[in-house]
Amino acid sequence: MPTMQAILADITTLQVDAIVNAANASLLGGGGVDGAIHRAAGPRLLNECRALQGCETGRAKITRGFDLQAKYVIHTVGPVWKGGSQGEVALLESCYRKCISLAEANDVTSIAFPAISTGVYAFPKEEATQIAIATVSAAVEGTAVIGEVVFCCFSKADLEQYRAVLMQPT
Ligand code: AR6
Repeated sequence: MPTMQAILADITTLQVDAIVNAANASLLGGGGVDGAIHRAAGPRLLNECRALQGCETGRAKITRGFDLQAKYVIHTVGPVWKGGSQGEVALLESCYRKCISLAEANDVTSIAFPAISTGVYAFPKEEATQIAIATVSAAVEGTAVIGEVVFCCFSKADLEQYRAVLMQPT
């Protein structure tokens, strides 16, 4: 089982093999963490993203990290929260699972996740935190590739929530 921890940081500054981007279906950039990652990675990221021709909600695609410390960016498209009856939970779980499987396929030993869908896409934070931790824990069980998982929080309140869930007995 890899180590799992929550930290308070700007994900673009982390020294891990891969950082995850909470992108939109175009993969052509946006605001929030997506905008920050494109700014920090430089214009070559957008170039590589163009060739990917978008990404469906709940899925993930990988690019290089260019000017980032991270070697890779794994772009995933979280669901927009529409009240919970549109498959949002299953789609968010799928994002985390697809990111872990792409990471393993690319020999990523350390990976950092932002809180996918909890910004502009308005997924309720507490439920999203439970989903993130439970889904990633299950997906990395028995992995021989990933040694470190970081949940990168962007506010103290988020950090406290992640730490509380990480400390719950499973
Ligand atoms: N480092 C770590 N986390 C961050 C950073 C950062 N630099 N910046 C923001 N966050 P959001 P979404 C947190 O809105 O809800 C974009 O326009 C933020 O506090 O970035 O999945 C895309 O192009 C929140 O907890 O992503 C899409 O159109 C979390 O990252 C749309 O937003 C996610 O917030 C995706 O919406």
